[in-house]
Amino acid sequence: MSLSSAILAPEEFKLIRELILRYCGVVLGDEQRGFVERRLRDRLDVLGLSDFRSYYRYLRFDPAGAHEIEDAAESITTHETYFLREEYQLKAFRYEVLPALIEARSSIRRLALWSAGCSTGEEVYTLAMLLLEAGIPSGWDVRVFGSDLSRRVIAHARRGVYGATSFRACPERYRQQYFRSTPEGMEVSREVRALCHFGQLNLVDAARVALIGKLDVIFCRNVLIYLNDGARMSVVEQFHRRLSPGGYLFLGHSESLLSTTTAFEPVVLANDLVYRRAPEVGENHEIATPQALATRIGGSKWRSR
Ligand SMILES: C[S@@+](CC[C@H](N)C(=O)[O-])C[C@H]1O[C@@H](n2cnc3c(N)ncnc32)[C@H](O)[C@@H]1O
Repeated sequence: MSLSSAILAPEEFKLIRELILRYCGVVLGDEQRGFVERRLRDRLDVLGLSDFRSYYRYLRFDPAGAHEIEDAAESITTHETYFLREEYQLKAFRYEVLPALIEARSSIRRLALWSAGCSTGEEVYTLAMLLLEAGIPSGWDVRVFGSDLSRRVIAHARRGVYGATSFRACPERYRQQYFRSTPEGMEVSREVRALCHFGQLNLVDAARVALIGKLDVIFCRNVLIYLNDGARMSVVEQFHRRLSPGGYLFLGHSESLLSTTTAFEPVVLANDLVYRRAPEVGENHEIATPQALATRIGGSKWRSR
């Protein structure tokens, strides 16, 4: 519980939310002032500051402000996620998209998936489990990348240990097969982990996103709803560039590209509506690898688990 009882005045809220918007594209409505006040009081405690004016000055002018904005953004963003979230979408992925991609990529025998805004990693491990369920053809190079703005959730994802709430939609069979019980919680099996790689990445940082190699599937679920129109448009444009021709984009159930772009073609499947980058000729088919990402995006940030 926060010790601070500092009040976030409307003017200070406007200044702070402007910094957050510029940093990560997350938009905060006037009605969220009370929520932001409660969340950021903890940051005031940590930094030993008595009011939000000082906090704004710290964010804006202190050399450590660039680092603090990460903590501020992490405090006010939603990180809720769980294994096998939105079953109908995952069915579309497992039974419709995956077989089509396996056929389409049979000459290069590689598949690269990206969960953009993966929070604590449940979505990444879900995709890896579904790949194993589908049976990866032998000799294929298959990787699932997970990224998030928050370093804390990425550290959790790399640890791969989860409590009961993460399993609220997960059939018991998956728990039995792909996890082992430890005193800290259920730990993801080696077989699943072997496919997964995590890194911190701000999706509005177009220069860094542009360094990612080509992908076959992007899952970006329950992330775009928090972004303003400009950020959403630029992120979706980057997704289009990063997808190989014929690659798929999965959004959250309440998200669509209707007012964002017409660059993707909607594909109506039996289980869901998904988006696809139209197949093209003469594109660069370089596939993302953890090594390439670590070299180009930076040091140890993008690595296996
Ligand atoms: C509600 S979670 C979604 C997790 C998962 N995709 C799912 O649907 O279960 C949203 C995540 O998006 C991340 N996020 C928000 N803005 C982002 C940005 N600009 N770049 C990268 N991640 C961002 C947040 O840190 C948060 O962990």
